[in-house]
Amino acid sequence: MKKILVPLVILALALSCKERQEAPQWQNPALDNIFTRVSVRDYTSQKVEADKVDLMLRAGMAAPTARNTQPWHFLVVDDRAVLDAFAAVNFNKPKIDKCALAIVPCGDLSKAMEGVEQEFWVQDVSAATENILLAAHALGLGAVWTGLYPRQERVEDASRVFGLPEHIVPLCAILIGYPAEQPAVKEKWNPLNVSYNQFGQGR
Ligand SMILES: Cc1cc2nc3c(=O)[nH]c(=O)nc-3n(C[C@H](O)[C@H](O)[C@H](O)COP(=O)(O)O)c2cc1C
Repeated sequence: MKKILVPLVILALALSCKERQEAPQWQNPALDNIFTRVSVRDYTSQKVEADKVDLMLRAGMAAPTARNTQPWHFLVVDDRAVLDAFAAVNFNKPKIDKCALAIVPCGDLSKAMEGVEQEFWVQDVSAATENILLAAHALGLGAVWTGLYPRQERVEDASRVFGLPEHIVPLCAILIGYPAEQPAVKEKWNPLNVSYNQFGQGR
């Protein structure tokens, strides 16, 4: 038994070292931004400047959408009273009471595709959300995606607080501010999550 186990352990170690050695080196600000983004849930009282809000919205609307339908609407929330009303119904952990800005990316069902393809809005607005998170990080801000859709009660609470009409569905609320915490980046790379050409097949 030992005769088989020892070489197997050595092989596994060698393979994992090989993965690490082969991690590509990059010098690219866009990739650095992707690899260093982390969810930030605590913020200083410093206000986010209007030009940064504008850039984040532009980043959101630069996202790809199915057939370029752009079935979205972005609600910018910077009124303390509205943020407090949202905090009062909020179910998520982050400190909304400390954050001075939220962007709520919504699906606009009046612009979405018909029938079974309508649901593509979720992917479209998710792509926009990730763009906003990356833009926030690139601008020295901290942000976190807090989920609303498909939790019906969250969608209803947020819609009431933000005065959304029926065809505007909030996907999530992105809380944004200057970071008051520096969370460590989570290592997520796992080659076991990848197959080549056929499921379960290695290179
Ligand atoms: C669909 C979705 C919903 C999320 N909802 C919440 C939430 O309600 N509260 C929260 O604190 N974080 C939420 N997050 C953030 C995740 O917890 C976070 O992205 C994950 O732990 C990975 O950490 P990272 O963003 O630092 O890499 C959500 C993320 C996604 C994509």
